[in-house]
Amino acid sequence: MGTGWLASLEDEAGRVLPSYVHEYVRQGSGGSVSADEAADAWSRYRLVPRVLRGNGEVDATASFLGYRATAPFGVAPTTLQRAADLEGELAMARGCAAAGVPMVLSSNAATGLEEIGRSTAHWWLQAYLTEDRELVRPLLAAACKAGAAAIVLTVDTPVVARKHDGGGVSALELVPARWLRTNLGPAADAAKARDLGLADIAWIRAATGLPVVVKGVLHPADADAAVDAGAAAVWVSNHGGRQLDRAVPTALALADVVVAVRERVPVYVDGGIRSGIDTLTALALGADAVFVGRLPFYALAVEGAAGVRRLFTALSEDLREALLLSGCTDLVAAKALTVRVL
Ligand code: FNR
Repeated sequence: MGTGWLASLEDEAGRVLPSYVHEYVRQGSGGSVSADEAADAWSRYRLVPRVLRGNGEVDATASFLGYRATAPFGVAPTTLQRAADLEGELAMARGCAAAGVPMVLSSNAATGLEEIGRSTAHWWLQAYLTEDRELVRPLLAAACKAGAAAIVLTVDTPVVARKHDGGGVSALELVPARWLRTNLGPAADAAKARDLGLADIAWIRAATGLPVVVKGVLHPADADAAVDAGAAAVWVSNHGGRQLDRAVPTALALADVVVAVRERVPVYVDGGIRSGIDTLTALALGADAVFVGRLPFYALAVEGAAGVRRLFTALSEDLREALLLSGCTDLVAAKALTVRVL
């Protein structure tokens, strides 16, 4: 866990959000095993710091497919941001632009793509494919027009898993249903594709001309195949514990995926990242950058766009201190750190 404001963010959000919204964001699927253990899994690692090679400087800047971010953090796609803040994704986009980090917009967002395009420095669109692929074409075309720099294909959601307290609310009960249809066009009412395959990566690439980031990979063989099929980056994720419950923690899956990818493309990771030390651990395990989902949602709820900026300032400061203390001047050095499991 981080310290101070960062560490208290989930509780602070709990004070300002209606309890059913807070619970919806916090929870996982099934018995919530994967959601509950994600953060703890990072703390099983111990870092082996380097000494006697400092130059007093720390450069934490990171490249996201060519975009130079102030630090190796990005906002993972989360739906329902207007349940956290009246301006929802727009406020998130402004916060990201102020912080100099990329934002991935959920395809189930309640803000138009063009507005996002005007409000943030660098953004990618997350998409699900539908059984009839053609229904997604208008969404992809609109993303290109609005300036999305990449498409993030989420591959772990053939169906939306049931959340653990089945008696609780579903996303569609939290905000007006039409909000979540803002950008979806004909895909809004269609079933998600259960037959996703490697060819879909090239299909999106051909439809958009944009790099395709594959989100939701946990097995090294899938990572290898996705890269062979044209993925521009592999994103290790178990959807914040909201799809297959008891899916392996990303902290434990990451290293094998990094080996399989063999530096051909960047590897990103999300799930339970709550501090600079978690981030440094992910880098040491071979990630090029990390994404956070719940943290920016909570920051948005607590302080709006300014909260999002504050979150990334706090995470960056935390990471910079961890880099200094581990004898790393930049992310290349961080990726060369070794770790041990306690
Ligand atoms: C998500 N996530 C998600 N992923 C995706 O590809 N499309 C989506 O629309 C959503 N929506 C969504 C809503 C909420 C409320 C949560 C908490 C998560 C998953 C998200 O992108 C990411 O993988 C996890 O949230 C990362 O874990 P942390 O940082 O929340 O621990």
